[in-house]
Amino acid sequence: MRRPLVVGNWKMNGTRSSAEALAKGILVGLGDDVADIAVCVPYVFLPEIAQIVNNTRLGVGAQNVADKPSGAFTGEVSAAMLKEFGCKYALVGHSERRTYYGDTDQIVAARFCQAQEQGIIPILCIGETLSEREQDKTFDVITTQLDAVVNLAGIGAFGNAVIAYEPVWAIGTGLTATDDQAQEAHRFIRNYLAAKDQTVAENIQILYGGSVKPDNAKGLFAMPDIDGGLIGGASLDAESFLKIYNSVN
Ligand code: 13P
Repeated sequence: MRRPLVVGNWKMNGTRSSAEALAKGILVGLGDDVADIAVCVPYVFLPEIAQIVNNTRLGVGAQNVADKPSGAFTGEVSAAMLKEFGCKYALVGHSERRTYYGDTDQIVAARFCQAQEQGIIPILCIGETLSEREQDKTFDVITTQLDAVVNLAGIGAFGNAVIAYEPVWAIGTGLTATDDQAQEAHRFIRNYLAAKDQTVAENIQILYGGSVKPDNAKGLFAMPDIDGGLIGGASLDAESFLKIYNSVN
């Protein structure tokens, strides 16, 4: 049985004090242990947030990780550094990184490997743009994005990773994929993995992301291949993030 997982992606939001208040607010409201839960915070907030959530069920993650282990890579943060500050997860290949900062499939695959080298669970983000969907290329795009990581890391690496399907057209737009659209993509991803390794496919958590809100989370999370969510905007408010968390079945 796969355990659900709900992850907040705070993106580039907040101040030192608002981040601290948000983490504390989530902890205070965290009721029944219905799922795994984590927040991916801006790098500079990591030490403080990691300290606040220490010894609680709330995990902490980064929003990216360097594709190299160390060295002259100005502006990057290595997996070893993240590990030292208590990071459990790192997002890799978020569409905002791919779109605005030129992260290619190959760079994303290298980031994925670096995270795993340090025992950090990569959350691999994949998904198609609106024009790709309109051209019926959704499955081709997902396949290419997955192939790059499988080719570098091997299918076995997905035994200790999370996938987040985030259709680009649904991110921050208020346009959520319907339950069926999301399920169809998740099924495709699981079948892709199953063709290479049945056990990996059965055990991996595949999250949906893109305008998940308290009022649409339940329907999405009820779909058989959706194991939770990667939440942007709605994770910036403790109450709405917890409502989404409590929507897992
Ligand atoms: P929104 O929930 O704000 O659409 O963002 C989704 C996302 O990009 C999470 O990584």
